[in-house]
This record gives sequence, structure tokens and C-alpha cells, in this order.
Amino acid sequence: MPQIIDGKQIAMQIKEELKERVARLKQEGKSVCLAVIQVGNDPASTVYVNGKKKDCAYIGIESRSYELPEETKEKELLALLDQLNHTEDVHGILVQLPLPSHMDESKVVKAIDPAKDVDGFHPVNIGKLCIGGDGFDCCTPAGVIQLLKRSGISIRGRECVVVGRSNNVGKPTALLLLRENGTVTIAHSQTKDLKEITKRADILVAAVGKPKFITKEYIKENAVVIDVGIHRNEDNVLCGDVDYDDVIEKVGAITPVPGGVGPMTRAMLMYNCVEAACK
Ligand code: GUN
Repeated sequence: MPQIIDGKQIAMQIKEELKERVARLKQEGKSVCLAVIQVGNDPASTVYVNGKKKDCAYIGIESRSYELPEETKEKELLALLDQLNHTEDVHGILVQLPLPSHMDESKVVKAIDPAKDVDGFHPVNIGKLCIGGDGFDCCTPAGVIQLLKRSGISIRGRECVVVGRSNNVGKPTALLLLRENGTVTIAHSQTKDLKEITKRADILVAAVGKPKFITKEYIKENAVVIDVGIHRNEDNVLCGDVDYDDVIEKVGAITPVPGGVGPMTRAMLMYNCVEAACK
């Protein structure tokens, strides 16, 4: 029987650890505070932001909400970031993406103090991810590593294939697997003989962005399959980048969708917030 990697349970375990850490910090007179900025009211963003605030409340992190109207000027958002960068009792700053189209996302991300960039999106943190250092790792990739480690799956020396090369998921996940001493290949839409590459993988990370793209022809017997995708079909049913029912008999371990990687992103955001307050 394959091992079903329970992201919900592992995320909860991390949140419990953080709750204890925050309680200890409070005894030392230290607080943890995350500024959460949402521009406009995209319904999906509201759901994500509310989830993050709920996690903060559970762990004992103060969340300070900034709900800005859609028509906010970029320079007003930059001014708010400058103010929060200089607010000592704000430890983390999260700008929910996507931003309205009149804003330059890259410019906004660069305006966050890297020491408060708990999403790990700032080029300084991406650079530290690459060369080492005390930066913040992007949350979803860090969540993938925690899922593997806490499920007793070793990365060292193993063939890891990441399908997808996005800046927020594919690339940083590959770099973290490399940091853990995996032998890493990044495959993408232009890769020739994709199945031949993915079939080499002891650990396959699917971050393709296409529903049920990875079928059993893509995987080696007993491979560990981590599914980063999340899609909703016309009947409102969630699925990932992996065709779960097709591969289940062949894999050694797999993350379900929902309940795999998804809950880990939020848990790692909380982890980065607590780290930010400790630095
Ligand atoms: N929008 C979707 N996912 C994320 C995330 O992880 N961080 C931010 N800031 N925005 C997002």
C-alpha cells in the first residue's frame, strides 16, 4: 500500500510547535506580528488572506490587516510598505498577490524589507536560497521539503525531478532539493522525452499547472510523488497536476489534493513569521 502523505496533519504539527514557541516568546516579553495587505477584493485572495489570519490567531501571532481599495495608487502602497518596513513591532509583511494590473508586482515585492519578506519572494531571499544564508525560503517549496522530511523520506543522493520552472514554485523547489543533497533535474514544457526524465525520479515534484497531467506512464515503480497543483473542475471538485487514481497503485508515497502541499504553504508562512521575530 502506498504511503499517503497527510499535509493537513503535518501542517497542524508545525502549527502546534509554533504555538509553543510563540508562547515562550511571550513569556520573554516578545510578540510576533504579521502585516497582511490586500489590494482590491478578489474573492480567492480574500479566502487565502482569511486563512492566513486564522492561522495567526491560532498560533498567537498578531495579524494587522490593511485592506486597500482596488484603485489604490502604486505609490500609496509603496509608502505603506516603507512605513511598515520601519515599524519595529511588525516582523513580517505579506502583500497578497495578484495585485491589480496597474501595479508592478516585481517593484512592490522589492519594496518589502527582505528581513520582513516572509513570503520569500524578494530577490535577496531568492539569492540566499541559491547561495545559502539566513534568508526566508519560499513557503510552498519549504513545505514540500518538510512534507518529505517529516514523512521519513530521505532526499540525500536521490534522483529528484521537478516538473515546472516557475519562480515561486518550480525553481525554488529544485534549489531546496539540491540544498538537501538531492540530484536534481528541472523539466518543463520544452523538455524532450519528458516521460523518460520523470521515470528516473525517486522523488517527483509536479508543478506543471495542468490538471491530472502526470499519469502512471510518467512514474517509476515506488516513486515518491509530490503534487503541487490545485485545480477545480466544472463540478467544483479539486484535483492536482497528478492523476491520483491512475498512479496510486504504482507509487511508493503520494500527497493528495486537497490535503497535501496546500496546507503546508500557510504553515511555512507562519514559520517564517516566527523566525522573523526571533532574528
Ligand atoms: N497568492 C497566491 N499565493 C500566494 C502566496 O503564497 N503569497 C502571496 N503573497 N500571494 C499569493
